[in-house]
Amino acid sequence: MKIGAVDLASPLAIAPMAGMTDTAFRRLVKRHGGCGLVVSEMVSSEGLVRGIDRTLEYAEYTEEERPVSIQIFGGDPEKMAAAAQVVEGMGADIVDVNMGCPVPKIAKHNAGCSLMREPAHAASVIASMVKAVRIPVTVKMRAGWNDGDRNAPTLAKMVQDAGASAIAVHGRTAEQSYSGLADWDLVARIASELTIPVFGSGDCIEPEQIVERLRSGVQGVLVGRGVLRNPWILQQANDLIAGRAPRQVTPEERGRFLLDYIELLLSERTDESRALTHERWVVNKLRALGSWYTKGLENGSHLRTAINSAASLQQVRDDIATFFCSQEASPAA
Ligand SMILES: Cc1cc2nc3c(=O)[nH]c(=O)nc-3n(C[C@H](O)[C@H](O)[C@H](O)COP(=O)(O)O)c2cc1C
Repeated sequence: MKIGAVDLASPLAIAPMAGMTDTAFRRLVKRHGGCGLVVSEMVSSEGLVRGIDRTLEYAEYTEEERPVSIQIFGGDPEKMAAAAQVVEGMGADIVDVNMGCPVPKIAKHNAGCSLMREPAHAASVIASMVKAVRIPVTVKMRAGWNDGDRNAPTLAKMVQDAGASAIAVHGRTAEQSYSGLADWDLVARIASELTIPVFGSGDCIEPEQIVERLRSGVQGVLVGRGVLRNPWILQQANDLIAGRAPRQVTPEERGRFLLDYIELLLSERTDESRALTHERWVVNKLRALGSWYTKGLENGSHLRTAINSAASLQQVRDDIATFFCSQEASPAA
């Protein structure tokens, strides 16, 4: 499939997740196969335009991740256009606009999902970005702001008309946050009404669910929490699509993923890691991933507790090695 002129080898992508989908994590998922597109954590348009170091770091990527989409948030058309130019200047393949974040800190600045409450303004943000850059501009939205205003079908058409090259829809409202279930009927309806590719997002935890969603009429699927629990899920879904049995993952491989993540993080120097000690920063990153990664594992809470109480990075490594090399870890029933 294609987004503008950008070819995707697979219609499956890692969803943008603040605090989680950093370049190290994306690289590892990509190496395990099946991933056609990676999307960065959301990055402030304001910070990009002002050249703030920490913001620029959130937008960093490596060549092996291509094609790469950088997601930006903001509500001012000129600033968003200027930020899109920064993203293009960094060499990214796609610039994505966050119209889904329900967090008040973002939404109150007329950014994130707030943009869905002013569709004409949201479309003007996209039009201004499309005019400013040559790379494709895409949009990630929710079903709407709340149940009384599920306007994703209307907004989707408006941003298509404004020049967006693809959209992704997480089928929940901002008010729902993560409660209830994503409305995939709505997503499929939008896909049937648009001419640009539509990605669906929400609640794919097993590879079979990804395949089922792909067959519901969307052109692609963005997988978020399912990848944090199981970084092999995209490859396993691709196996199913190709008529093969999904790749089996051994406990040792699951442990190796976390150890490799530690090594990649250690090789990075970030502004955030300078504020803490580098080691403390890596431990915090492992705690954040560990809270998701251990969810699908039998006795996963044991590892979660161990990582959360570890006094050093070496202790985290030892806990991981012990957990995955003993028989404690097997996929939960
Ligand atoms: C920890 C976390 C952080 C997220 N951060 C972002 C973000 O920065 N930008 C965005 O568009 N969506 C963000 N999302 C939403 C996901 O991209 C996705 O649409 C949502 O989690 C539903 O998909 P899932 O059920 O596969 O996780 C985030 C979700 C989670 C769980």
